[in-house]
Amino acid sequence: MPPRPLIIDCDPGVDDAIALLLALASPADFDLLGITTVAGNVPLPLTQTNARRICHLAQRTDVPVYAGCPRPMLRSLTTAEDIHGPSGLQGADLPEPTMPLQTQHAVACLIEQLTTAATPITLATLGPLTNLAVALIQCPEIARGIGQVVIMGGSLGAGNITPAAEFNIYVDPHAARVVVEAGLPLTMIGLNVTHQVVTTPDRLTALENLGNPVGRAAAGMLRHYGQIDCDHHGLAAPPLHDPCVIAYLLRPDLFCGRSMRLDVETEGSLCLGRTVANPYPTPTAPANATVIETADAEGVYGLLIERLGKL
Ligand code: RIB
Ligand code: CA
Repeated sequence: MPPRPLIIDCDPGVDDAIALLLALASPADFDLLGITTVAGNVPLPLTQTNARRICHLAQRTDVPVYAGCPRPMLRSLTTAEDIHGPSGLQGADLPEPTMPLQTQHAVACLIEQLTTAATPITLATLGPLTNLAVALIQCPEIARGIGQVVIMGGSLGAGNITPAAEFNIYVDPHAARVVVEAGLPLTMIGLNVTHQVVTTPDRLTALENLGNPVGRAAAGMLRHYGQIDCDHHGLAAPPLHDPCVIAYLLRPDLFCGRSMRLDVETEGSLCLGRTVANPYPTPTAPANATVIETADAEGVYGLLIERLGKL
């Protein structure tokens, strides 16, 4: 199989960084056309810089990095420095990047790539969906160039930024609604799945024992990441969110889901940003997404450790 054309939209962010490393470590699987960045975990100047830091760490400065939207479509920006640290990559001491940031805006990049693609492009979104939503509004024809969209976002159960909503959807619920209602070949990997994939001490040790700079940086970031999630949700260890998207693209057999009707709450306050998935679609509310429900955590972590060991 030739490597699949892929664009990753992200808000690095510790778990975004691990997801990027997994993708960057898989050149036989992915023709990584670009990394587009968005404001989310930390403001855009940091997310775009952090994406380039990770490309340097992976020795993949061949991958172009683009800056996108600095705020959600309607709401003001909500960030998560309490989770990711003020730099966005707490636990890793990575140098300032020397690779250039692309001058083209991430939205323009998405539009250009998706309207000229000879082969449908896979989109992996790891942050708020602002860039993709703005691209869809500006140029709906990009849908024809999209082979598959896999989003880390939402939840079939509890939220994390509010009891009802997951962070990526909550930050820009209007963008999430635009994406969900665009008729795209969409797969959602929510907290109900990522909370099954946790960084146990043994898995952290396995990363540290890789004996390479990538393993040390990944372990450094994951050592403190997600403890709040772990405590709030009573998990055995901190959950690993964004890498599940890349693992799904590499090994879909590690995951299981169903075709459902997916909607996003954009009104109110208590449930703003809630993803509502109905496994029983109707003619008036047809299925519009594959919603993942289970993950083989040991398989995901085994894949992550195997691939990061190659960098
Ligand atoms: O809720 C978890 C998601 O929000 C992850 O993508 C994390 O990086 C943050 O963006
Ligand atoms: Ca993210």
